[in-house]
Amino acid sequence: MPVLSLFPTRVYTAKLQASGWETFNSRLLRECAQYRADDVAGQAWSKGRYPGGYTSYGSLNRMHTLSPTFARLGTKLQRHVLAYARTLQYDLEGRELSMTDCWINMMPRGVTHGLHLHPLATISGTYYVRTPRGVPGLKLEDPRLDRYMAAPPRTQNARPENQPWVTLPVAAGTVLLFESWLRHEVPPNPVHAERVSISFNFNWF
Ligand code: NI
Repeated sequence: MPVLSLFPTRVYTAKLQASGWETFNSRLLRECAQYRADDVAGQAWSKGRYPGGYTSYGSLNRMHTLSPTFARLGTKLQRHVLAYARTLQYDLEGRELSMTDCWINMMPRGVTHGLHLHPLATISGTYYVRTPRGVPGLKLEDPRLDRYMAAPPRTQNARPENQPWVTLPVAAGTVLLFESWLRHEVPPNPVHAERVSISFNFNWF
């Protein structure tokens, strides 16, 4: 077919490491629970903006500077971010892509995270720590949606690249990266088990 695909939206997904991620995740999970218990400011922040769940986004949003375990996560993520940047053919002009923000998300049943993007960042993503069966994936939105005029809907079984929304399944031990302008959300968690993830921003300095 003489049809070109231009201006694609690229999403990166890979295992953080080939082996040993389970041990690393149990350690992360223990620390997430401990920080939640201690972070009074974060509990208050989450009450209004993350009802039923806990996020350290409004309180401890530079976890890589607080905990050696989170700093290790930052180091492990670096090679994934660089591989993604190479695929995107970024010209970094000798400057670095480094982690600027890193925060905890704990979502028990019923908790949702509405549609948003990550302003003032270059590459954003999430590392999945605990994903019991049935927890929601990450829903991504076509960035051109606000310009659609008289666009017909897509067939129900249209290929993902032709859908206006795509929900990617998430799995513990995997990292997911996207460009920070891409709007995304986490639909409500329908199961009686907690979904735990760590989100982060990388910026270009
Ligand atoms: Ni986000």
